[in-house]
Amino acid sequence: VILRPVARQGDGMELQAVDEVLTALRARGPERAALFARADALRRERMGEAVHLRGIVEFSNICANDCLYCGIRVSNRAINRYRMEADEVMEVARRMEGWRQGTIVLQSGEASSPAGDRRLGELVRRIKAETSLAVTLSVGNRPHEVYAYWRECGMDRYLLRFETSDPALFARIHPDCSLAERLDCLHALRALGVQVGSGFMIGVPGETPEVLARNILLCRELDLDMIGIGPFIPHPETPLGGASNAYADDPDMHFVALAALRLANPDAHIPATTAFDAVFTNPPGRDLALQRGANVFMPNSTPGKYRRDYMLYPDKPCVDETGGQCALCIVGRLEMLGRSVDDGPGHSRKRPVEAL
Ligand code: 5AD
Ligand code: FES
Repeated sequence: VILRPVARQGDGMELQAVDEVLTALRARGPERAALFARADALRRERMGEAVHLRGIVEFSNICANDCLYCGIRVSNRAINRYRMEADEVMEVARRMEGWRQGTIVLQSGEASSPAGDRRLGELVRRIKAETSLAVTLSVGNRPHEVYAYWRECGMDRYLLRFETSDPALFARIHPDCSLAERLDCLHALRALGVQVGSGFMIGVPGETPEVLARNILLCRELDLDMIGIGPFIPHPETPLGGASNAYADDPDMHFVALAALRLANPDAHIPATTAFDAVFTNPPGRDLALQRGANVFMPNSTPGKYRRDYMLYPDKPCVDETGGQCALCIVGRLEMLGRSVDDGPGHSRKRPVEAL
């Protein structure tokens, strides 16, 4: 892929070439601390102190795909498959405004059917009609007509990680699709005027520092509105269950990647993703992420009874909590960090947003 030239901002903070990113990734000791501080300062300058809350509702774990790393892959028979009713999702959506969550993220496995696509479109219409929430969907690769239909229904944003920028590594861990198809979906979404989020897992077995650097620069090249990245965590019920994270002996590398991501993508919304909590517990990884480049938090707003069946990876936090408990917890955590909550929808900072 060819990098589009991006004008330098002049403050010397941005990273835009592979060798610059690689140098950042190699930082150790005090240099690493300086990198974290630089990322935090750039986040504060471009995105401000307030944190956007996007409540995630994992409305179904039904999946037709067999990604080698994922706990809800079709071959995993050790979980109960569920799909929430529309009324149940609406009940959560109505509570989210009181929880100061301006966006609902509807996520599920990838299992397309015309009836399911229609149901989801109708749900988006209902949420847009009955609440003030921005709606983000995260349901995988779909035909472009389906994206267009959801857009007509009022979908504001879409999350679809490219997972790794290396086409061969992508193919090895995804039996059901290619990197080119995934990128095609992202371009189709952008063309529809949808705010686009993508990103990758950090430390997929076989990932080299060069691949990590290219992952970060692919985010920049795609000019993403939102970028979600998080550590790869081996799930025992998957073919990669016995593999280890490429940075298992240096877990702080996950934060180095995050800080470099911010420096390469100054104006993107970057969440402190849940998987950071699984690699670092004291202090919680998500809190550290907010101090090393992230400006968004995605509280789990899935009803408690479904959470055990949506373990994409082990040690996922908040399995025993309810949506209301996470909502309270996060506001307290932000206060401790000296950060406030932004009650608005938290749209893209990069381009004008056309609401439907
Ligand atoms: N470890 C870390 N992240 C994972 N995901 C799925 N399985 C794992 C795992 N074992 C991430 C993928 C996907 C997102 C919804 O969850 O990056 O895009
Ligand atoms: Fe879920 Fe703290 S965010 S319990």
